[in-house]
Amino acid sequence: IKREKVVNILQSTVFNREITVLGWVKTFRNNQFIALNDGSCMSNIQIVVDFANTSEDILKKITTGAAISITGQLVESLGKGQSVEVKATAIEILGESDAEKFPLQPKKHSLEFLREIAHLRFRTQTFNAVFKIRHKLAFAVHQFFNDKGFVYLHTPIITASDAEGAGEMFRVTTLDFDATPRNEDNSINYKEDFFGRSANLTVSGQLEAELGAMALGEVYTFGPTFRAENSNTTRHLAEFWMIEPEVAFADLEDNMNLAEDLLKYVIKYAINHCPEELAFLTNRLAEEEKNKPQAERSDLDLMAKLQFCLDNNFERLTYTEAIEILKRSKPNQKKQFKYLIDEWGADLQSEHERYLVEKHFKKPVILTDYPADIKSFYMRMNEPDEQGRKTVRAMDILFPGIGEMVGGSQREERLDYLKTRMGEMHIPEDELYWYLDTRKFGTAPHAGFGLGFERLVLFVTGMTNIRDVIPFPRFPKNAEF
Ligand code: 4AD
Ligand code: MG
Repeated sequence: IKREKVVNILQSTVFNREITVLGWVKTFRNNQFIALNDGSCMSNIQIVVDFANTSEDILKKITTGAAISITGQLVESLGKGQSVEVKATAIEILGESDAEKFPLQPKKHSLEFLREIAHLRFRTQTFNAVFKIRHKLAFAVHQFFNDKGFVYLHTPIITASDAEGAGEMFRVTTLDFDATPRNEDNSINYKEDFFGRSANLTVSGQLEAELGAMALGEVYTFGPTFRAENSNTTRHLAEFWMIEPEVAFADLEDNMNLAEDLLKYVIKYAINHCPEELAFLTNRLAEEEKNKPQAERSDLDLMAKLQFCLDNNFERLTYTEAIEILKRSKPNQKKQFKYLIDEWGADLQSEHERYLVEKHFKKPVILTDYPADIKSFYMRMNEPDEQGRKTVRAMDILFPGIGEMVGGSQREERLDYLKTRMGEMHIPEDELYWYLDTRKFGTAPHAGFGLGFERLVLFVTGMTNIRDVIPFPRFPKNAEF
């Protein structure tokens, strides 16, 4: 189909020529002006309809949501707010849209309402902006790693291992009833229902990425991961995308530097490549802020927040140092935290993480060296401290408004330490023999992390619910579209 995209038409400087443009009607004013959008950019193009020479039948079908084709003259516009417009000479209705029934009337809809019509919310400016930025961020991630010589390693979605050892997995099973292995009482034998063995959807590609790193040197995965946690929060999904680099001959400090560089690179990329979308979302957020009580309003707008993140080094401190800060903090002293911090060893809740980044340091924070007991089996063990407390070379990166954005560590490369840890955590060695092999044959220090892609998109777009930054959110009771 011969057509020109709105994004190009709006920048055109060659006027008084015939063009064809296809798109969806946003509004139709006074039987004369159509605002048309084709998704190529956030802006609409104005179409001027020749009322006298257009049939009654066509006019009544130019309704919000209808898909139409316009052929006409591209002219400079004298109207306010647009530089060009198209004087229509021929209008074709491609797909009608019943004005009474179309849920997206040209007015402001709440995000809650749009979530219920997630199959149509793509047509709004907000979601146009969010998903364009999501795309650019994904592209920037690949650009960043490609420029550094990393290899994009595709790790499996179906796997037998639980990379986090947390048991939050979805099982993969066949629907072929007759082919499904049975126990003696005829119930399904879940230990064998993946053609003779058990399998799950992956929670992380890390363990496989480690295999890649121990040969290719620097790899990353970027794919969907699944968590069977029944959480209904604004930060959790059952299916989310994770970016997981893994680097041989690297320690925790290299890991922190890589993560900070990556985050700054992709945020900067979005600022440079999505000015229209970010300006729109900055305004959207500013409007929302106005509805909040004064005390809760942010003093920085979205663009300023992103810029601030680029201009400052992330604060780096240990878990132990953070606990001291939290213990002495006002909300802890005044018992305002839901979970009070009274002893070393407690896992940090999001209220504590947010206190550190939003109130105390007021910038992204990297917390390291967590207690071994609250972290995964594969993290490298530190020497016990003076008080005999055991910590691991873990790092979490915490972001304002988000909480945990990144989780990672230097890996335990010493076979004996790793086996001891797995034993303590009841992880059978035979299930991970292939993982242990990397420690038997040419083991080397290495490190990596996982960046939750939706949490990154949340931060960059200023949206507040993770269900609004992935096209098809998966959360408890939601898998339809
Ligand atoms: O901290 P997590 O569980 O770490 C891992 O999976 C490691 N294997 C990563 C690695 O070292 N290669 O998850 C990493 C990040 C979190 O910091 C968070 O941003 C995101 O993944 N995340 C989620 N995002 C959305 N919904 C969920 N349910 C998430 N769980 C984790
Ligand atoms: Mg984590």
